[in-house]
Amino acid sequence: MKNGRLITVEGIEGAGKSTVVGVIRDWLESRHIPCVLTREPGGTPVAEAIRQILLSPDFKESIQSETELLLMFAGRAQHISEVVAPALAAGKWVVSDRYLDASYAYQGGGRGLPFERIQWLEHWIAGACQPELTFLLDLPPAVGLARAKKRGPHDRIEQERLDFFERVRAAYLIRAGQFPDRIMVVDALQSAEEVQALLLKKLAELQETSQNF
Ligand SMILES: Nc1ncnc2c1ncn2[C@@H]1O[C@H](COP(=O)(O)OP(=O)(O)OP(=O)(O)O)[C@@H](O)[C@H]1O
Ligand SMILES: [Mg+2]
Repeated sequence: MKNGRLITVEGIEGAGKSTVVGVIRDWLESRHIPCVLTREPGGTPVAEAIRQILLSPDFKESIQSETELLLMFAGRAQHISEVVAPALAAGKWVVSDRYLDASYAYQGGGRGLPFERIQWLEHWIAGACQPELTFLLDLPPAVGLARAKKRGPHDRIEQERLDFFERVRAAYLIRAGQFPDRIMVVDALQSAEEVQALLLKKLAELQETSQNF
């Protein structure tokens, strides 16, 4: 069976994830590497419908942290079985704008749910569909939120207070400390050009270890 590769891009709102996904897409396309670009929450029609529930500002007061976590994994179950696993089995590269680490950061760090419960869900739902490389775009939440604001009105999660995003950021950095070989922390305060240069260097290293070329 052919094996594709899973790259994920993580970070708080406005960190530059979509920009980075675009850079990776261009890099893959220029090498004619078959790829699938996707995102979480979302990535399939059902998971995108779950995303609507998760992000709708109408539900600001009523979504419990446990509900949020379970909805995230409900969407992820759909995303993995419909998109990620089949693409990897077909030998494609998959680039996901947020993935498993986001649950540890947002529902673990941000909401305060125990990491062990998230881990249990991860083992159940994600199994072997683990990223081999994760770009964590790190920057102070105030800067990220100011950047994201230019995009449009804040969704339910973006309406959280700054201390929520400080906890999310801290949890992301804890993950990076736990998985230093997989997670590359990128200082997202650098210019987009500087971020891109770091990314391209890392992708070139990855290419060297690849048997798909
Ligand atoms: N390194 C950078 N320096 C300054 N501005 C940047 C940088 N990277 C991206 N931007 C700009 O910041 C804004 C947010 O970037 P982007 O949409 O890529 O972030 P994101 O992490 O995908 O945000 P969201 O969480 O809202 O989806 C955009 O206007 C983008 O052009
Ligand atoms: Mg984005």
